[in-house]
Amino acid sequence: MLILLLYFMHGRSGLQASETLTMGKDNTSEMQNGNDKKCLGRRVLSAGDLVQGRLQLNGSKGVYSGRKRPLWWLFRHVRSIILTILLLGFLFLLDSFMFSIFHSLHHLTASSTQSEGGRIGLVNNKEERRSPVKMYDRLLNMAASSLAEREFKQDALRLWQEPYSRAASKWKPCADRKSAEVFKFVRAVKLNDTGYILVSANGGLNQQRVAVCNAVAVASLLNATLVIPKFLYSNVWQDPSQFEDIYEEEHFMETLKDEVNIVKDLPPHLKLLDLETAGSIVTDADMSKEATPDEYIKTVLPILLHNGVVHFLGFGNRLGFDPLPSHLQRLRCKCNFHALKFVPKIQETASLLVKRIRNHGGSRSMLDKQLLGNFISHNHNELLPMNTSTRYLALHLRFEIDMVAYSMCEFGGGESERNELQAYREVHFPLVLERLNKSKTIISPEELRRSGRCPLTPEEAALVLASLGYKHETYIYLAGSEIYGGEYRMQPLTTLYPNLVTKEDLLSPIELAPFRNYSSQLAALDFIACATADVFALTDSGSQLSSLVSGFRTYYGGGRAPTLRPSKKRLATMLSENKTIGWSSIEERIRKMIDEGQKVHSRGVGRSIYRHPRCKHCMCKLH
Ligand SMILES: *[C@@H]1O[C@H](CO)[C@@H](O)[C@H](O)[C@H]1NC(C)=O
Ligand SMILES: *[C@@H]1O[C@H](CO)[C@@H](O)[C@H](O)[C@H]1NC(C)=O
Ligand SMILES: *[C@@H]1O[C@H](CO)[C@@H](O)[C@H](O)[C@H]1NC(C)=O
Ligand SMILES: *[C@@H]1O[C@H](CO)[C@@H](O)[C@H](O)[C@H]1NC(C)=O
Ligand SMILES: *[C@@H]1O[C@H](CO)[C@@H](O)[C@H](O)[C@H]1NC(C)=O
Ligand SMILES: *[C@@H]1O[C@H](CO)[C@@H](O)[C@H](O)[C@H]1NC(C)=O
Repeated sequence: MLILLLYFMHGRSGLQASETLTMGKDNTSEMQNGNDKKCLGRRVLSAGDLVQGRLQLNGSKGVYSGRKRPLWWLFRHVRSIILTILLLGFLFLLDSFMFSIFHSLHHLTASSTQSEGGRIGLVNNKEERRSPVKMYDRLLNMAASSLAEREFKQDALRLWQEPYSRAASKWKPCADRKSAEVFKFVRAVKLNDTGYILVSANGGLNQQRVAVCNAVAVASLLNATLVIPKFLYSNVWQDPSQFEDIYEEEHFMETLKDEVNIVKDLPPHLKLLDLETAGSIVTDADMSKEATPDEYIKTVLPILLHNGVVHFLGFGNRLGFDPLPSHLQRLRCKCNFHALKFVPKIQETASLLVKRIRNHGGSRSMLDKQLLGNFISHNHNELLPMNTSTRYLALHLRFEIDMVAYSMCEFGGGESERNELQAYREVHFPLVLERLNKSKTIISPEELRRSGRCPLTPEEAALVLASLGYKHETYIYLAGSEIYGGEYRMQPLTTLYPNLVTKEDLLSPIELAPFRNYSSQLAALDFIACATADVFALTDSGSQLSSLVSGFRTYYGGGRAPTLRPSKKRLATMLSENKTIGWSSIEERIRKMIDEGQKVHSRGVGRSIYRHPRCKHCMCKLH
């Protein structure tokens, strides 16, 4: 009931906002509590409306008028209260009627999250589920009332800050410092070139990023010259993008030139060599996972010295984190955080995207500077202080069908869900099924859930955000591609948080067109929008995007870039009590869990340097 109420009120303000937008007037009418927020209800607008709204807004200066606000505020409240009372009466009578309105209003999620250029072109509409899938009705109702109570309270600042900001801000980026060690090393490499390393990296954008930086370290380890890495075309990602389509080649070579020789192509005499027959191809099967430097020296160096070239075909996660000589560790870090800069085409569109998410707010942080380069959006309007831009939370829901099917978990969708996922596995993961059929012990879906191996559903993500205290109007940027189950799965989340947008909502089809068929380039837009968010909420710490983005926020965030990392296992324990647990108890436990995930540690042994850059090779700690 309360959800409906909230929704209806929201719908009104959304319409109002769209009117003011297209009229090119003050769009701050929903302001409450000073500069606190603008509830624009932008999800009601289509991308076309948005573009139109933007053009007109650009034409009108001075959109900010502080003095009007108290009156507006009061006015809105009186109206809202009257509306509330009226609606409550109506709602009891017209419950079923409202429900249909609710559904017809609710058209955003599934259609807009179906990114055509999404990572995996799965269409999943043959299922005829007519009702939203909910696993925790009781908790959702409690979350809705809690959000309703909070509606007119001031937004808690702590939600947008790192709790251990002071400790975090002591760590400064410094992987690009030049030291005597580097110079000694440079000369040695240039004198002692052992040959050429070719790399064809596997996976999507983020796996490839890791592979590139590992290749840089391997080239340095072997005193070899690195040829600019190639990206393998995969049937899963279906993206023919190459290095230069995503990263700036010149910047990459220039940044690393003191440490590694990098060239664009093999010299002519080696191009003629048949690498296969010469035995110069090294695949991931030839190396152990997270291999040590010794293994490279033993297995790869002899080939390199003999043939003058080695091709790592399908290179992935093949260089361990510890032990590794200090200069190689530092080099990897420098590669990831300094040498890989997105090309202007990506930066420009990402800048537009971020500007629209922030509702025209100017740029604020070092993260912006790093990721958007010259396309950083400046705040030209002096009347508009920096801190009036809309805060946003970026959410990476790793809940696409591949992940969902792979997990072997169940998500409350009953028989039809079970059959659908099984059918998907038969097509896409036959080896997994084969392995399962052979193994004696079968782990039940309940056991998988208990042990924290099930990806979080949109519903569970909504419960986490609501327990933490994010308000109903919170502006959420949703990263990733098509959510499994679409609209019906998303509904618990979009009902609690209707201001949820994707890049497809914020960019017009024309602006997105150059990226359409390039899933890695689309993923780069998500990468940037997540890294520059005021808060980044991940749902799966194993995901490469989440992991690299959280590393970026640690490296460049200066203690002002909070990342929320729920523990799937702890959450599963709490939610197993979904029929009995009280709301305040779940709030307390979730807050504690998130708080613990935000403590400042230096990198543990064996942990990824890309994800945990707080270590002496990457960052300098002030005392
Ligand atoms: C080149 O590397 C070899 C080992 O591979 C080493 O013995 C030799 O001293 C190095 N040469 C120079 C000039 O550093
Ligand atoms: C690389 O060069 C350094 C410095 O000359 C040398 O110490 C090292 O042994 C060489 N490594 C390889 C694998 O050639
Ligand atoms: C906005 O920034 C100004 C100074 O830049 C500061 O005085 C003010 O307190 C800030 N307001 C909020 C709500 O953070
Ligand atoms: C499991 O393996 C057995 C025999 O190897 C086979 O008959 C059966 O069809 C397999 N089951 C599945 C689900 O693949
Ligand atoms: C993208 O791919 C679709 C089909 O795969 C094709 O019809 C379309 O022309 C492509 N668009 C661009 C811009 O390459
Ligand atoms: C919800 O609670 C019921 C009753 O305690 C429990 O059986 C069920 O497994 C819980 N659901 C989940 C997804 O944990």
